Amino acid sequence: MPDPLTLRDELGEALELASTAAREFLEGLDDDLVRDPRADDVADAIGGPLHADGDGATRALVELLDGLPAVTRSAGPRFFHFVTGGATPAALAADWLATAFDQMNGVWIASPLGARLEQVALGWLRELFALPADWGGVLTSGATMANFSALAAARHWAGEQHGIDVERAGVTAMPPLPILTSGYFHASGVKAVAMAGLGTGNIERLTSDPAGRLDVRGLERKLKTLSGRPAILWATAGDVDTGDFDPLETMADLADEHGCWLHVDGAFGLFARASPELAPLAAGAERAHSVIADGHKWLNVPYDCGFAFVRDARYLGAAFGASAAYLPAGDDARPSYGFLGPEMSRRARSFAVWATLRAYGRAGYQALVERHCALARRVAAQVSGAPDLELLAEAKLNVICFRAHPPGLDDEAALDRLNRELADAIVADGRILYGPTVHAGKVAFRPAISNWRTTETDADLIVAVTRELLAERVAATV
Ligand SMILES: Cc1ncc(COP(=O)(O)O)c(C=O)c1O
Repeated sequence: MPDPLTLRDELGEALELASTAAREFLEGLDDDLVRDPRADDVADAIGGPLHADGDGATRALVELLDGLPAVTRSAGPRFFHFVTGGATPAALAADWLATAFDQMNGVWIASPLGARLEQVALGWLRELFALPADWGGVLTSGATMANFSALAAARHWAGEQHGIDVERAGVTAMPPLPILTSGYFHASGVKAVAMAGLGTGNIERLTSDPAGRLDVRGLERKLKTLSGRPAILWATAGDVDTGDFDPLETMADLADEHGCWLHVDGAFGLFARASPELAPLAAGAERAHSVIADGHKWLNVPYDCGFAFVRDARYLGAAFGASAAYLPAGDDARPSYGFLGPEMSRRARSFAVWATLRAYGRAGYQALVERHCALARRVAAQVSGAPDLELLAEAKLNVICFRAHPPGLDDEAALDRLNRELADAIVADGRILYGPTVHAGKVAFRPAISNWRTTETDADLIVAVTRELLAERVAATV
């Protein structure tokens, strides 16, 4: 009977197999097609009922590796969809160790190393982003959960303002908490608001133009009507479609004046603060009450990883504290991050975060961020210089927002159709990968550069491949 205990001798062979496959995969990452045309069929072919008797680790892994064509090279340099980082060598190797050591990083007693690495890494991240050293922080599974964690802290704060213990009484005991934001508010913010029980109907996007920029006057007017009632001002540092920033200083001034909680979703835009040249874009984040970012985007650590910082460290404990006779006391001087974030048992993400920061330091991340932004400006210039492409927003950070716009084709519906078809063609082609969005009412593209491996050669493919596929489509329609 294939019991893991009786098959324990397979361990060495299984790790050898995984390591060889990983090496081969990573060696091909710079040049392989980003998406294999067989991907969907290969994925669909996997299935069948649960085996009564397993076949052991080696057979299972060999079968798993049959699925390789369905693995997108999203860890590689030419996957420009979403905002996708790869994994630096230091982060990847450390993450392997986190898996091999299988540490439960919720309480200090279960993993002093994991907890200490988290404490140190959070301190280094605060340094990298020039955030005050005394803020509380926690690693999460990504920006969505980091936003949720910050919202839970803000919810506690709002409860205090109303004299309500919101964890005990629930949000229904509290008047609605307005969440005032711009059109840059990310979809994951909606999830986070819903999960926090704050009601997505309480989100108000105050926008001044079709691109979604914040209507500052409208926000001022709205705040006056609240007469000091608790509210959250939600700023986005790095709009997912353009990389643009909400005016953080202005929002911080308004938060001060009206006694609001200022939250900054800097899932990738917070990394502007790693560069003196780009930091002015995110100036004012240090005045917020909570700030979050992703690890698996621009930090280039493996999925899944994000982090939340909260000015008043007490609020994370208030929102996420837990106690039981068998658990360590919450007031232990040693940090137990399972009491400061949504997960109790949690993976030691700290290994990868600590290792990548230790390996490349402040200068390494400054170089990486500045290189990616310079590449984005380079691509934006190529777009501007191409007669059949149209740049839709300035490339302030690492995102290039543009669309195909062949000369003489000015019907917006036809342009939307063409751009959607072109997005499908890019996915099918597989040399690069990015997807469509809608910016200011127009179907557009928004490739983002955030992988440590990406070079000029890779970035130049964005315009070259797009124009090649566009020319094919235009030729086919005449
Ligand atoms: C501004 C912003 N916030 C939040 C998120 C959600 O991040 P995650 O998918 O890591 O939870 C993203 C993802 O692109 C983002 O761009």
